[in-house]
Amino acid sequence: MVWTSVFLAALPLLSAANAAVSVNEFKNVGFPGRYFDIASLDSLSSCCALATTPTNFSGPNSPLNEELSVHFRGPISLSKFAAYYSANSDSGSWSQVAYYNSANQTANNVTFLNNNGENSTCLGLGLTYASSNGTSKATQPTILEADNFVDSNQEYLIFSSVKCPESGFSNSCGVYRSGIPAYHGFGGTTKLFLFEFKMPNTTTWVEWNNNMPAIWFLNAKIPRTSQYGNCSCWGSGCGEFDAFEVMNGTQYLDLASTIHTYQGTGNITWGIPAPGYFKRQLNDTMLGGVLFATDGSINVFMPNSLSWDSSLAASTVNGWIPSKDILIQSLSSVAPQSTGSGSSQTGSSSASKRSGASKVQSGWTLALFTCVMGVFNFL
Ligand SMILES: *[C@@H]1O[C@H](CO)[C@@H](O)[C@H](O)[C@H]1NC(C)=O
Ligand SMILES: *[C@@H]1O[C@H](CO)[C@@H](O)[C@H](O)[C@H]1NC(C)=O
Ligand SMILES: *[C@@H]1O[C@H](CO)[C@@H](O)[C@H](O)[C@H]1NC(C)=O
Ligand SMILES: *[C@@H]1O[C@H](CO)[C@@H](O)[C@H](O)[C@H]1NC(C)=O
Ligand SMILES: *[C@@H]1O[C@H](CO)[C@@H](O)[C@H](O)[C@H]1NC(C)=O
Ligand SMILES: *[C@@H]1O[C@H](CO)[C@@H](O)[C@H](O)[C@H]1NC(C)=O
Ligand SMILES: *[C@@H]1O[C@H](CO)[C@@H](O)[C@H](O)[C@H]1NC(C)=O
Ligand SMILES: *[C@@H]1O[C@H](CO)[C@@H](O)[C@H](O)[C@H]1NC(C)=O
Ligand SMILES: *[C@@H]1O[C@H](CO)[C@@H](O)[C@H](O)[C@H]1NC(C)=O
Ligand SMILES: *[C@@H]1O[C@H](CO)[C@@H](O)[C@H](O)[C@H]1NC(C)=O
Repeated sequence: MVWTSVFLAALPLLSAANAAVSVNEFKNVGFPGRYFDIASLDSLSSCCALATTPTNFSGPNSPLNEELSVHFRGPISLSKFAAYYSANSDSGSWSQVAYYNSANQTANNVTFLNNNGENSTCLGLGLTYASSNGTSKATQPTILEADNFVDSNQEYLIFSSVKCPESGFSNSCGVYRSGIPAYHGFGGTTKLFLFEFKMPNTTTWVEWNNNMPAIWFLNAKIPRTSQYGNCSCWGSGCGEFDAFEVMNGTQYLDLASTIHTYQGTGNITWGIPAPGYFKRQLNDTMLGGVLFATDGSINVFMPNSLSWDSSLAASTVNGWIPSKDILIQSLSSVAPQSTGSGSSQTGSSSASKRSGASKVQSGWTLALFTCVMGVFNFL
């Protein structure tokens, strides 16, 4: 069985979700802040060392303007995925940079990985190529099969097919775990992701994340170091964005959106949820989009139709984002250097609402807290 856990996998938090929407918008996203990169990794003994000097960031959508990996948790079937870049989300056009089509088995600039690689006490399971059914490992890049389906708590992720340079602190992918297939994520302030998928009701039962499908993004450095261990830049705030996430088994038909950075909160585990939720259709194919706009806003939307053309006019894309049924979460402006310290991130998440998860999570959070605070004491 896959090593199951919850943290960094679309965190299971309480949210103020109270109204069904067709758009969740986060405004004023991006702030002058910092996080700590991993300086070295050692899966056998010392686990990892965080950098002693911070990685600074600023500007619209930061730190989510950095490269992101795209994550999927079952029960889910993915039929289409695409990523687009543009110079400006309000004018001109979007160019497709990645495309997956399950029906005709096309995967352009898309690499499917999962966390079924080497296991270690301190780093947890590492990345590996995903097998065609998504749940096992493969020895080479493998296209997710036509009628793919992964059940509760099974996960896979998408990177581009551009390989990372050697692991190294100053390299474009940073330090990463040895032996993994290391690829670039999807970077830049202005980017668009499209999804065609199903989230059918599960017919089985697992202890963790039962019937809690999700699509989310992590700073691509996180899974390349340790998504489920205690060694990554996540705790110091390099960023996570949850687009379509069932938060608990009670409200298994509600898909929430949450941002996990230090902008406007000292608690990265909690993050900031959008006030609205999308309705999960158990029997139907759903369409979803996540637009990181040039002005520093993130729109998560579920339109009735999408186009998958290699070039899309900005007006076409903006037309998918209706101005009604929209709930806006405006993030507070943050003064430089006042955040990213990680100093507030104590405690576990509300994972206690999910049996079996809270113990693991609090242990991990405390370990990370110790690690981060260790660096601060050093500074
Ligand atoms: C990051 O910001 C800190 C504090 O403003 C500054 O001292 C440091 O030089 C910056 N680092 C880089 C690499 O610019
Ligand atoms: C593939 O994706 C990477 C990462 O976003 C990008 O740098 C590259 O240009 C893309 N390749 C193509 C052919 O679009
Ligand atoms: C797969 O289908 C898509 C959408 O119809 C099309 O654009 C693409 O060219 C097809 N690819 C192949 C290899 O047939
Ligand atoms: C990975 O290692 C951890 C800790 O050593 C262990 O608890 C877990 O069961 C292992 N998982 C797998 C799939 O081997
Ligand atoms: C996925 O495929 C692997 C072989 O690559 C197989 O061992 C495994 O049982 C399959 N998993 C499911 C859930 O079908
Ligand atoms: C969906 O599955 C859950 C069990 O996970 C069950 O309680 C619920 O009744 C199912 N809903 C529908 C509409 O079938
Ligand atoms: C379940 O998640 C929803 C958000 O989708 C939240 O509003 C609700 O409070 C959560 N319920 C429990 C019991 O945690
Ligand atoms: C979905 O399909 C199941 C049976 O396959 C049915 O019981 C349920 O009523 C359907 N739900 C909706 C919302 O159509
Ligand atoms: C941070 O959020 C988590 C999860 O929602 C919560 O359990 C914890 O108490 C919070 N920590 C602080 C210091 O508020
Ligand atoms: C990670 O956890 C392991 C096992 O609990 C511990 O030995 C190690 O010191 C921790 N590393 C960091 C950086 O916190």
